[in-house]
Amino acid sequence: MRQKIVAGNWKMNGQKYEIVDLLQQIKTRLNEKEQQRSVVFPPSIYIPLVQEILEESMVQWGGQNFYPQDKGAFTGEISAPMLVDYGCRFVLVGHSERRQIFNESEKFVAEKFHQAKEHGMIPVLCVGETWEQREKEQTLSVLEQQIAAVTKKSSNWFDKAIIAYEPVWAIGTGKTASPEQVQLVHKAIREIIEKFDSCQSEKVTILYGGSVNEKNAASLFEMPDVDGGLIGGASLNAQQFVEIVKCIK
Ligand code: PGA
Repeated sequence: MRQKIVAGNWKMNGQKYEIVDLLQQIKTRLNEKEQQRSVVFPPSIYIPLVQEILEESMVQWGGQNFYPQDKGAFTGEISAPMLVDYGCRFVLVGHSERRQIFNESEKFVAEKFHQAKEHGMIPVLCVGETWEQREKEQTLSVLEQQIAAVTKKSSNWFDKAIIAYEPVWAIGTGKTASPEQVQLVHKAIREIIEKFDSCQSEKVTILYGGSVNEKNAASLFEMPDVDGGLIGGASLNAQQFVEIVKCIK
């Protein structure tokens, strides 16, 4: 059974008072089953606060980022063991903003993926094509390359890992891929995984991300190969996030 998940990537947003309010509302408006499907990714400085608020609930939390070494002279960075110390079960890896703004290479993404697994966390590997790549019909080759980069570094990689398909052109733009487009790509991702391990291709959870909101979530989640969503902007609004979570059937 694939795990159904709706994850909120808060990015560099939210202050203490907003986070407390957001999480209180999420806790009260979601029932136990819905909470089990929910994950939030706060800015790292707020992870201890999030842990304190969510500890007694079923809502889970994770890290947006870390450096792939256990410790050392890496000023400004945090490590996977530090995230684990504060109850993070999940961590984002390969988000397009990290790849583009912070120049994270495929090799570096693979190291992070591997390191997350070493420490027992579930990496959420974000993959996706730019608009230009889509126009040139390179979507599937880009995805295959991004997935293959990770498999080189880590064996048994898709067991306890999640993939988030996030077309770069749909992130934060209000342009969502259609449910049919998303379904086609998610199915193709399973075919790509099949090449690496036939046992896992049907088992791995694949989320869609890119301008998901409370209006389009239901039709996206209805698709057979879509197991939930990675939500940016709409996850900062309790009402919208809760409605999106409730779209999972
Ligand atoms: P968005 O972001 O929902 O604001 O498009 C998604 C993401 O970056 O994970």
